[in-house]
Amino acid sequence: MIRLAGIDIGNDSVKLVVNGSNEPVIIPSIVSPGYERHILQEEDSPLKALDVMVYSPKLKKKSQRYFVGLLASEDQDNAELEETDNKATSDQALIVALTALAYASVMNVAHTLQPGQSIDEVEYVIGTGLPVRTYAGFHQLFEERLVGQHEVTFLSTPKLKGRTVRVNIRRAIISIEGAAALFNMATHENLQVRDEELYYGCIGICEMGALTTDFPVVKRMSIDNQFSTGEQMGLASYLDAIIRDVEDQYGYRFPSRTKLIQRIRRNEFIIQRVGEGRRTFGRSWTPISAAPRRRSSI
Ligand SMILES: Nc1ncnc2c1ncn2[C@@H]1O[C@H](COP(=O)(O)OP(=O)(O)OP(=O)(O)O)[C@@H](O)[C@H]1O
Ligand SMILES: [Mg+2]
Repeated sequence: MIRLAGIDIGNDSVKLVVNGSNEPVIIPSIVSPGYERHILQEEDSPLKALDVMVYSPKLKKKSQRYFVGLLASEDQDNAELEETDNKATSDQALIVALTALAYASVMNVAHTLQPGQSIDEVEYVIGTGLPVRTYAGFHQLFEERLVGQHEVTFLSTPKLKGRTVRVNIRRAIISIEGAAALFNMATHENLQVRDEELYYGCIGICEMGALTTDFPVVKRMSIDNQFSTGEQMGLASYLDAIIRDVEDQYGYRFPSRTKLIQRIRRNEFIIQRVGEGRRTFGRSWTPISAAPRRRSSI
């Protein structure tokens, strides 16, 4: 059975929705080199410990072990995407996307291994997007990189240990980031018009991402070539500035943007440092105690 999936391969996180499942899979776009880790207590969810071997003919290193998402977010050697990265050509973006597609297929309750079968196989038709600025030059290459057969093996991931998923992407339909959201708002599932103003109007969209901001203009559901633009800027540079400021002022360095964003989302602005008291960052930027600067982890 071929599954339909919508996947937003973001610079900050990969968001995936598979036909028939209401819950999106969200994985931070961060990877680090994988290794045999000491596990004292197993994580309570597979998403917290994506330890995978990814094989794909489209990757520079064809078969390599990676920690992906939350597991990589604390690692010293982790890599998040930077301004100079292009998600159409980035190996990192492909690694996180393939991990998400493999994860979603094995977590689907309807999908269990048949007796005698040792490898899960899944076929996808996927829809995804590229920023306005990269679309014209790279959508074909992006499609070629995604389409084909890839393989993901889960290593120390709880509940999925030792499972290999062969991910076969039959087709990849690439659209412009931001525009797909409008199509969704303007039409019903069966493609009938849901909102006439959106469907027949001339709509400007502003989609702020981590590294790019897109301004597609959509007229009667067609992308306007002349007025659609995009900028090579996003929220990540502000997060990086906060990470630098906190390090300069309080001597604490967030190991990744993902860790900072987790705290911002939870409204947790206090850093508790072992033996050194508490510091509050963000909002007021007032230190609670005047402890000496020193690197420490929490
Ligand atoms: N609650 C929040 N407060 C502040 N910033 C947030 C919050 N949630 C997400 N962000 C930041 O907003 C930015 C945009 O998130 P989004 O998921 O749209 O990016 P993306 O789609 O992965 O990136 P891009 O579109 O550049 O590929 C990211 O830098 C993210 O870290
Ligand atoms: Mg985005």
